Amino acid sequence: MRVLVTGGAGYIGSHTCVELLKAGHEVFVIDNLSNGHETSLERVRLITNCELQFTNADIRDANALDKIFNTFKPDSVIHFAGLKAVGESVANPLMYYDVNVGGSVSLLTAMSKAGCNKIVFSSSATVYGKPQYLPYDEEHPTNPVNPYGRTKLIIENIINDWTEVDTNRKGVILRYFNPVGAHESGQIGEEPIGIPNNLMPYIAQVAGGRREHLNIFGNEYDTSDGTGARDYIHVVDLALAHIGALNQNKLDMFDVLNIGAGKSTTVLELVSNFEEISGVPIKFKYLPRREGDLAAFWADSSKAFEKTSWKPERNINNICEDTWRWQKLNPNGYGIK
Ligand code: NAD
Ligand code: WQD
Repeated sequence: MRVLVTGGAGYIGSHTCVELLKAGHEVFVIDNLSNGHETSLERVRLITNCELQFTNADIRDANALDKIFNTFKPDSVIHFAGLKAVGESVANPLMYYDVNVGGSVSLLTAMSKAGCNKIVFSSSATVYGKPQYLPYDEEHPTNPVNPYGRTKLIIENIINDWTEVDTNRKGVILRYFNPVGAHESGQIGEEPIGIPNNLMPYIAQVAGGRREHLNIFGNEYDTSDGTGARDYIHVVDLALAHIGALNQNKLDMFDVLNIGAGKSTTVLELVSNFEEISGVPIKFKYLPRREGDLAAFWADSSKAFEKTSWKPERNINNICEDTWRWQKLNPNGYGIK
């Protein structure tokens, strides 16, 4: 298959490019490098010993998209490109609607013109909002509590409407839980800009000596040890879920799949696992709860297991090992910012 990957120079996109190339697909990446790195694509080539094409352009640039669709003629699109920082979306919602929603409309317009009928879209468990029951399954009501989450739900609905127009179209929505980890080669991984918002990169930077201590937001939640609990999914397992979503025929023309490991891990459990793997003590301090945080959530991903041949194969130990290798080999990420 020829696959256009939007946002392919980013964290999840680069890992997915590796798995696509390993599976024998042809890959074209469009990325404006607002949060991605061309170096990550060089590393993808290095890991796979395969070529991939790349254009530095914005998905809101209709001409750039038309050119790719007319020359590369993709069979499918995997759509990662977008902005993902919750706090930034609260401060600047219009930018999020413009890039995430506007970018997706621009992409679907180009696909329609070119007759490209299949899209796999990166959505998020954040669309569910406050849990009415756990684990979340795909039938759980959606009620995102910030602009970032609302852009994801709007795009899901736009893709649904788009598939209704033509029976040849297929839209697969993957709702990711908490993606973490890095490629086992240590060549590609997550490079947060500035101070990490998310737990795993923060722990890795404390272990690597780049930050003095971890702040743990809340220790009185109703969880096994009082700290927040999440469903951490290894980024390579997540990447493989996209291959599953492209390959199989059991999916409906519009389908939604949870992609998680199906179990939750608390902040303290993750810290102690990381200490064990790295051999480095992680200093931490307790702070009050972070605004908007939920106590715990995890996925029921049984629909994805049943409808695709996918199942996560990597555990929390693998996640810590691979994150630590990436951190040690690349203490300043790709070394650019
Ligand atoms: P990322 O920022 O590393 O990757 C996104 C890529 O898109 C970047 O390389 C960026 O340069 C590019 N991009 C952004 N706007 C663009 C535009 N207008 N035109 C072209 N390229 C553009 O993020 P990620 O963690 O790899 O996330 C990928 C997708 O998965 C995003 O849509 C994100 O919302 C979604 N997601 C991520 C998580 C997570 O925790 N990482 C969880 C759920 C969903
Ligand atoms: C995990 C746990 C924190 C940092 C966010 C987005 C979500 C999604 C993934 C895209 C929580 C605690 C964290 C720290 C801490 N992305 N924590 N100290 O909040 O589940 O999800 O990223 O769709 O939309 O909201 O992930 O890694 O930030 O937090 O104690 O320095 O770690 O309170 O319990 P979260 P996270």
